[in-house]
Amino acid sequence: MSKEISEQPDNCVPEADTDSIGPTWPPKESSFNRIKGIDTRGVITDTRRLSEILTVLQDLRQACLKDEKLDRASVRILIENNLLLKSSDTLQGFGEAVIPLSGSQDELQETSLLYLGFNCPKRQPNPEELRQSITNVQHAMRRDTASFKQIRARTLEQGYQLGISDFGERVNDEQVWSEMTSLYKRFGWNSEDVLDILRKENNILAVASLNGQIVSAGIAETVLLTFEDGVQLRMAEITEAATREEHQGRGLYTAVASELMFELYKKSAEKQLLDGQIDLVFGECNGNAPGVLKAVRSLGRSFSHEYSLTMGIERVVPGFLPQHVPIAGAKRSTPYNDLFPAYINRQSLAKFIEENR
Ligand SMILES: CC(C)(COP(=O)(O)OP(=O)(O)OC[C@H]1O[C@@H](n2cnc3c(N)ncnc32)[C@H](O)[C@@H]1OP(=O)(O)O)[C@@H](O)C(=O)NCCC(=O)NCCS
Repeated sequence: MSKEISEQPDNCVPEADTDSIGPTWPPKESSFNRIKGIDTRGVITDTRRLSEILTVLQDLRQACLKDEKLDRASVRILIENNLLLKSSDTLQGFGEAVIPLSGSQDELQETSLLYLGFNCPKRQPNPEELRQSITNVQHAMRRDTASFKQIRARTLEQGYQLGISDFGERVNDEQVWSEMTSLYKRFGWNSEDVLDILRKENNILAVASLNGQIVSAGIAETVLLTFEDGVQLRMAEITEAATREEHQGRGLYTAVASELMFELYKKSAEKQLLDGQIDLVFGECNGNAPGVLKAVRSLGRSFSHEYSLTMGIERVVPGFLPQHVPIAGAKRSTPYNDLFPAYINRQSLAKFIEENR
């Protein structure tokens, strides 16, 4: 998640919130004029509890309509698949995207992570740009998964180095800090925000470098969510994808993200991450960055958009987060970007790494 567009003058910068995953429950005010929350009270298994969440959203919408500043809410819940499919029509106006949790731990096979939300009238996607983003996603969906080994080899053959930036090194090395600051300007982060990101121990940083200089980077933000009903969800959000312009289109970000996936898989297998096996790796991809959409597909991730199409629920849960955050890069007419979640579960992650090492 990025903070604000770099074109904005400093006095417009909202208070930095460098966590992508954000607050749990109840929803709280977050960066970019949003209210965010993850309902950690347990898996939603009945219509009564689902209606209660929808009522919370309706109330939030009323509050946002009266509020000068807040104009988007984004809430995530764990829901049983049967209930989701049976009640999908009731989600009209609030359904955004679904990440199925089959292929993760046994307890969650029949559940999904559901994004609900709304935008006030002043914060709506440009229909033309949204259509283009959907076309970009559908184009990326036609790509095959690449080989982990070949992704890495392609980068090394071009003379780049690839690796995980060690925690001790990244918090003490001023050069890493300054190069990351320069790379992450596009997300609106200033040097203090970047230091905050680097200092978070639950963040894993992968980089590609040329002649000792970082030219591409990405972060995996890891989190263990403990629900009140005892369910534990271990997930990693791959975020802050950035490649310096002059190095784009060479497979660097694909390689950086594959390093993150390998590290997550390895640490998880060695029981060095979140005290158990990781369930889900996902990202919220910029619809107007074809590079990131193609990269995640090459890495074996599925788009929520395609899951909704497969399940026939795309009308009520279209598979994107409208005007979620701003990302500087390709031109757009609105202040924010439309993001498309893409995910890989525990089983598919193991297959991706193990089959192609
Ligand atoms: C998105 C971004 C990180 C991609 O970095 P990158 O190093 O160029 O990515 P890759 O080279 O691994 O791209 C993956 C594929 O997409 C292609 N690609 C990259 N940029 C592209 C573009 N603008 N249009 C079409 N295809 C593109 C690459 O050629 C590659 O395809 P290939 O494997 O068939 O050669 C980079 O463009 C960027 O920093 N954008 C601005 C910030 C942003 O939007 N970040 C995404 C946040 S979710």
